[in-house]
Amino acid sequence: MTVTRWGIIAPGRIAHTFTQDLRLVPDAELAAVGSRSLDRAEAFAREYDIARAYGSYADLLADPGVDAVYIASPHALHVGQVTAALEAGKHVLCEKPLTLRASDAEALFALAVRHERLLMEAMWTACHPVIRDLARRLRAGEFGTPRQLHAELGFVVDTQPTDRLLDVDMGAGALLDMGIYPLTFAHLMLGEAERLTGSAVVTDAGVDLDIAVAGRYPGDAVATLTASMTSWSSRRAEIATDRGRLVLEDFHHPTEVTYTPTAVGGTNDDVDRGRSVVVECAEPVIGRGYAHEAIELQRCLAEGLLESPLLPHAQTLTILRQMDELRAQVGVRYAGD
Ligand SMILES: NC(=O)c1ccc[n+]([C@@H]2O[C@H](COP(=O)([O-])OP(=O)(O)OC[C@H]3O[C@@H](n4cnc5c(N)ncnc54)[C@H](OP(=O)(O)O)[C@@H]3O)[C@@H](O)[C@H]2O)c1
Repeated sequence: MTVTRWGIIAPGRIAHTFTQDLRLVPDAELAAVGSRSLDRAEAFAREYDIARAYGSYADLLADPGVDAVYIASPHALHVGQVTAALEAGKHVLCEKPLTLRASDAEALFALAVRHERLLMEAMWTACHPVIRDLARRLRAGEFGTPRQLHAELGFVVDTQPTDRLLDVDMGAGALLDMGIYPLTFAHLMLGEAERLTGSAVVTDAGVDLDIAVAGRYPGDAVATLTASMTSWSSRRAEIATDRGRLVLEDFHHPTEVTYTPTAVGGTNDDVDRGRSVVVECAEPVIGRGYAHEAIELQRCLAEGLLESPLLPHAQTLTILRQMDELRAQVGVRYAGD
C-alpha cells in the first residue's frame, strides 16, 4: 500500500474527532495542519503529533508533502476551500454537507474531474461497516421486504448566535447539519426517494430548528425522518419489513443491529419467532467510525479510482437535491440561492 500524506484544514470540533480516528488508519501519515491562526495549528499539531503546522490554509495547500486534505470548516466555506485545494492538486475529503446546494457541488465535481483529483464528501455513514453490511443484507432480502423506515437525529444546540450552528450565513439549520444523516440512511437502505415532503420550525433569522420529513421510496416503502436542534432525540433508526423489524439504537454511531423476526420465512425459523437476534457484522468498527471514510479515500487512491463507489458523486448530488427541495418547501434560503 502507498502512504497517503494528509493535511487537516480548519482544526475545529469535528477535526479533533476525525484526526483521532485518522491516527488509527494504516498507511495514513498526518503530514500537516492549517488554521487561520498559527497558534491553533501548532497546538493541534502538538496534540496529534502532526509534522507541520501552518497559519493559513493557503500555506498548507502549497505544501508538496501533502497528498490529500480533509476540510472541516463550516459548510458555507466549503466551495472556496475545496476549489483552492483541487486547484493546488490535492485530493479532497470535505465535511458534510459538501456544499449548501446541489448546483455548487456539481461545479466542484466537474472541477475535480478536470484536475483528475478525487473529491469525496465526508459522509462517513456511507463507509461505516455496520451500515454497509445492513444495506447489503437488506438488499439481498435477508430480512424480508422493507416497508417502513424511521430515523431521527438531534441534540440541543445551546450556543451563541455567532456559532456556525446558528449562523445562517455559515449554512446553519437542522436539515443540513443533522437531517442529512436520516436522509442518507434512508437512501442507503431503500434507494432514491420518489417524493419527500417536509415540515419545519424556522426562526425569524431563517434557521430551521426542527424538521420532519415524510418520504416515499422505491418498492412502496415509506419513511419518516426527523432532525432537531432543540431536543435530545433518540438517534434511533428502525426498519419494519414484512417479516419483522430491525433496530439500530444509535444509527449515527452504530455498533450493532437487532433483528426481531415476527413472521415465518425470515432467516429464523418458527422457533425463533419474536426472539431478537443481533445481526453480526464481520468487519470491526475502527475508532469512533470516522476512520472508514479515510480508509475508503486511501483505497480509491491506491486503486487509481477518482470516485468512490461507496460515495459516488451522484449519491452526494441526490441528497443535496433532496435538501434543496426540502428547503424550498419549508422556506429556508441561503445567500446565493
Ligand atoms: N461528520 C460529522 O459527524 C460531523 C460532525 C460535526 C460537524 N461536521 C461538519 O464539519 C464542519 C465543521 O463543523 P464543526 O462543528 O467542527 O465546526 P466549528 O468547530 O465551528 O469550526 C471548524 C473550524 O472552521 C474554521 N473556520 C474557518 N473560517 C471560519 C469562520 N468564518 N467561522 C468559524 N470557523 C471558521 C475554524 O478553524 P481555524 O480558524 O482554526 O482555521 C474552526 O475551528 C461542518 O460542515 C459540519 O457539518 C461533521
